[in-house]
Amino acid sequence: MDLGLTGRTAFVSGSTQGLGHAIARTLADEGAAVVLNGRSEDRVEDAVERLRAAVPSAQVEGIAADFADQGDVHRLLQSIGEIDILVNNVGIFEVAAFEDVSDDDWQRYFDVNLMSGVRLSRRLLPAMLEQGWGRIVFVGSESGVNVPADMTHYGATKAAMLALSNGLAKATRGTRVTVNTILGGPTYSDGVARTVELIAQAQGVPVDEAKSAIAARNVTSLLQRFIEPDEIASLAAYLASPLSSAINGAAVRADGGTLTTTL
Ligand SMILES: NC(=O)c1ccc[n+]([C@@H]2O[C@H](COP(=O)([O-])OP(=O)(O)OC[C@H]3O[C@@H](n4cnc5c(N)ncnc54)[C@H](OP(=O)(O)O)[C@@H]3O)[C@@H](O)[C@H]2O)c1
Repeated sequence: MDLGLTGRTAFVSGSTQGLGHAIARTLADEGAAVVLNGRSEDRVEDAVERLRAAVPSAQVEGIAADFADQGDVHRLLQSIGEIDILVNNVGIFEVAAFEDVSDDDWQRYFDVNLMSGVRLSRRLLPAMLEQGWGRIVFVGSESGVNVPADMTHYGATKAAMLALSNGLAKATRGTRVTVNTILGGPTYSDGVARTVELIAQAQGVPVDEAKSAIAARNVTSLLQRFIEPDEIASLAAYLASPLSSAINGAAVRADGGTLTTTL
């Protein structure tokens, strides 16, 4: 299937590793020019090199900016060029008891996980509407629907993301611009892999054993294993492509069946 992405330009927030990098690589593989992002110049340069090595034909560049830093965000919004496909992927997550999460931490979670998407969409959506075609894809989570008690701060940002994405979609009425959210489930991204390694180390067990045990704790998962980043990237590339033209304002699940309801 030709996704028809050749000649399109995509910006993927938080794409030096994990889901964001897999999405950027898949888009590049499909012929899109991609702009990577992460907090530091070094990490972004390294990610650009890795993507070029994986997809030699890739047109790829990077912009370093920390979405928790207003000055960085301002500079990013000024320097970003014309973008047809915005993937709001950047996100931070950590298990923490509700009473241990400070106001500053709540603010950081909202700045990085939600306001990044608000600010990028406000900057890029008007041009998409004017040219009559564009794609905004939010990388959300089933945790925004079934909010975990020990990740309420994270789930709240992902629930708000669903509202943001759905509301933005309504501004695209009658155009060929779409705005959708992927409801991802537990995925073995670099960030999750690092956490699993630390747990394995603390428990004195092999990483594979810790990985299987953690995946098995997700009792409602029909997949009964971690999702791989490329499995989310395939859906992101489809939602970014002209082929997904009838999907707008939707929350599309790629959660391995973790959510148990039909809607
Ligand atoms: N993994 C899962 O199980 C899962 C499930 C559902 C949804 N998701 C969502 O998928 C998205 C990606 O998650 P992931 O697991 O792939 O994460 P990850 O492996 O930890 O990667 C996070 C990426 O975001 C960048 N980043 C972090 N903080 C940033 C900031 N303040 N400003 C700019 N960039 C920043 C990191 O780059 P640097 O470190 O180089 O700055 C890195 O490239 C998130 O929105 C997450 O909520 C993940």
